[in-house]
Amino acid sequence: VRGRLVGVGVGPGDPELLTLKALRVLREARTVFVPTTPGSGTGRAEAVVTDHVPSERVVPLAFAMSDTRARESNWEQAATKVVASLRYGGTTAFATLGDPNLYSTFTHLCETVRRLLPELTVETVPGITAMQALAAHSGTVLAEGSERLTLLPLTGSIERLREALCLRDTVVCYKAGSRLPEVLKEMRAAGRLESAIYGAWLGMDGELICSASDMLETTGPYLSTVIVPASRGTRRAKL
Ligand SMILES: C[S@@+](CC[C@H](N)C(=O)[O-])C[C@H]1O[C@@H](n2cnc3c(N)ncnc32)[C@H](O)[C@@H]1O
Repeated sequence: VRGRLVGVGVGPGDPELLTLKALRVLREARTVFVPTTPGSGTGRAEAVVTDHVPSERVVPLAFAMSDTRARESNWEQAATKVVASLRYGGTTAFATLGDPNLYSTFTHLCETVRRLLPELTVETVPGITAMQALAAHSGTVLAEGSERLTLLPLTGSIERLREALCLRDTVVCYKAGSRLPEVLKEMRAAGRLESAIYGAWLGMDGELICSASDMLETTGPYLSTVIVPASRGTRRAKL
């Protein structure tokens, strides 16, 4: 295979939060694949990409999020389309929200493509993550000095959150939208809810940034992020 596959991070949603390198790679790629969820219209990464690249070169790849069997066959179909593009040579790009090396569809897609093309050249272009966008928008310092920064996907046991909150350093929660009340009550029990910041649909229509305590009684969308800043004695987080 002559082509190279590049996973391009396109930032959290704001088309301006795209690096110059990402822009160059997207523009020079013969095809830019973008993940979409069937039945939910234009994908989030797609919306950023079509702001910069002619739509004829942008190809959606469907990934069903809930149906496990459909998901497996989606991976195979997606990989087959990517391989077909790679055979033409040049750059084939896959655009992903945030960063391609952080909980990204790109990692799994890449494994599936590599099973078909073991010699494939793969590169990634880093992107600005949702937690960085939320930190910037809310005036929150993620870490300073010797503080640790824990990034936690809320897909499994709440115990991991409890442990992370005990450290008193910064905790960022991804994938917590559907269980927001449970997550925020855990923060309250640890005495850390008051300083926590919530952000949804960052950089997109409907963006919401508020104190996490305002969200105690409600669930949030999948694109929800919570930052619990380190307990520093002074209140640095400000909205
Ligand atoms: C599959 S992960 C993708 C992470 C992404 N690769 C990154 O670097 O930020 C999805 C999670 O990222 C967070 N996320 C990504 N984009 C977001 C956005 N625009 N607004 C709020 N949260 C976002 C949410 O916590 C969501 O559940």
